[in-house]
Amino acid sequence: MERIGAHSHIRGLGLDDRLEPRENSQGMVGQGKARKAAGLILKMIQDGRIAGKAILFAGPPSTGKTAIAMGMARQLGADVPFTMIAGSEVFSRSMSKTEALTQAFRRSIGVRIKEETEIIEGEVVEIQIDRSLTGATKTGKLTIKTTDMETIYDLGTKMIDALSKEKVIAGDVVTIDKASGRILKLGRSFARSRDYDAMGADTKFVQCPEGELQKRKELVHTVSLHEIDVINSRTQGFLALFAGDTGEIKPELRNQINTKVGEWREEGKAEIIPGVLFIDEVHMLDIECFAFLNRALENELSPLVIMASNRGKSQIRGTKFASPHGLPVDLLDRVLIVSTRPYTEDDIKQIIQIRCQEEDVTLTENALQVLTSMSSQTTLRYALNLISCGQIIATKRKAEQVDVEDLRRAYSYFMDEKRSVQWLKEQQGNLMFEEVDDVTTTLNHMDED
Ligand SMILES: Nc1ncnc2c1ncn2[C@@H]1O[C@H](COP(=O)(O)OP(=O)(O)OP(=O)(O)O)[C@@H](O)[C@H]1O
Ligand SMILES: [Mg+2]
Repeated sequence: MERIGAHSHIRGLGLDDRLEPRENSQGMVGQGKARKAAGLILKMIQDGRIAGKAILFAGPPSTGKTAIAMGMARQLGADVPFTMIAGSEVFSRSMSKTEALTQAFRRSIGVRIKEETEIIEGEVVEIQIDRSLTGATKTGKLTIKTTDMETIYDLGTKMIDALSKEKVIAGDVVTIDKASGRILKLGRSFARSRDYDAMGADTKFVQCPEGELQKRKELVHTVSLHEIDVINSRTQGFLALFAGDTGEIKPELRNQINTKVGEWREEGKAEIIPGVLFIDEVHMLDIECFAFLNRALENELSPLVIMASNRGKSQIRGTKFASPHGLPVDLLDRVLIVSTRPYTEDDIKQIIQIRCQEEDVTLTENALQVLTSMSSQTTLRYALNLISCGQIIATKRKAEQVDVEDLRRAYSYFMDEKRSVQWLKEQQGNLMFEEVDDVTTTLNHMDED
């Protein structure tokens, strides 16, 4: 069973070949303009024309900013690095803010390393092993064939051990890496499928390879700059990659690695793949981080930076000045701003339906109608949260479908933001540490945003 997250229904941006948004596709509904803009950005990434660019998704809460970023990540595929952090994360690490940001930047830049190796690929005809009298040395011969040719190779001790470790027997189709001697069993040859009745159900049958026995094969690995940093930092070692706790990395080391990667690039051994760094809730960063971003964006090795903020005009952290979206104006000047808008009732209905499918919940027609109008009075997120609550209430009365009554009860158990504000007002300062005026003004302020 897979855990269901808030965005697990999103599988892409739902655009067609001309980057036009489809009405309801890949889990995405509505928000056409922003999705199209995201598609254009993806195109730029795939063409490799993005150095030093930054995008800001700005809009009210639960209008799909994070969802669109997730859609972009899904669409990019595994080869292009996509890093996601929340603005507040940089404050909660055991390292300086700028180090945390630097690591996030470097995690978003991939280095594609190409390696050409020579392999032998064929079906094993015979393995013959001769042991010396003492048993200390072994020699042997391996007969291997393709449909077109057959050759005998001499085997040394190392190869013999490797073959017996992999339990290679006549009739197996194998590849042998000539440089490293690594053996990979691809399966058993179809020609042998009738020889043995007693073979495990998991035996895989493959065709005997055609053509030459020796082939050249290109191997491609993609690692991020950050991974190279960690592996090469003497204090950490590569195991730190798994622990996740990589500590600070010295700038000199980073410089060395940049130089080395630059050399590989010139020699054609490696290719740089600028990826994407997504900073959600970017208004949580402070003025020092923003200054760092300004500089880092101008670096030659910069990924595409995508930010999201739901703030209106608000204070820049670390200063007493206010600015649109909580970002300093000089940074805003560098970014392309994409705005997201509140959803129409029809969009909301479709999103609710998608979420119901994802969470395996059935709503009655009336319940869907009620939840949709609830969502336009509260927020989309609140309505989506009620789906699973409603499901549990419905199960308790042994019903298959969630009905209006279940939703009504869930609605009475859990407050949305507006009712919560109302309730606080009614409490008139009965809660701890509360300055009555303060609470109402900040919450009203949130409303305006
Ligand atoms: N266009 C859409 N299609 C399908 N699902 C969507 C769409 N937009 C938003 N959602 C879903 O609605 C919920 C709220 O959206 P999301 O978290 O992306 O909002 P947000 O703009 O990031 O809000 P905030 O500013 O509060 O972070 C999520 O579960 C998200 O997957
Ligand atoms: Mg969000």
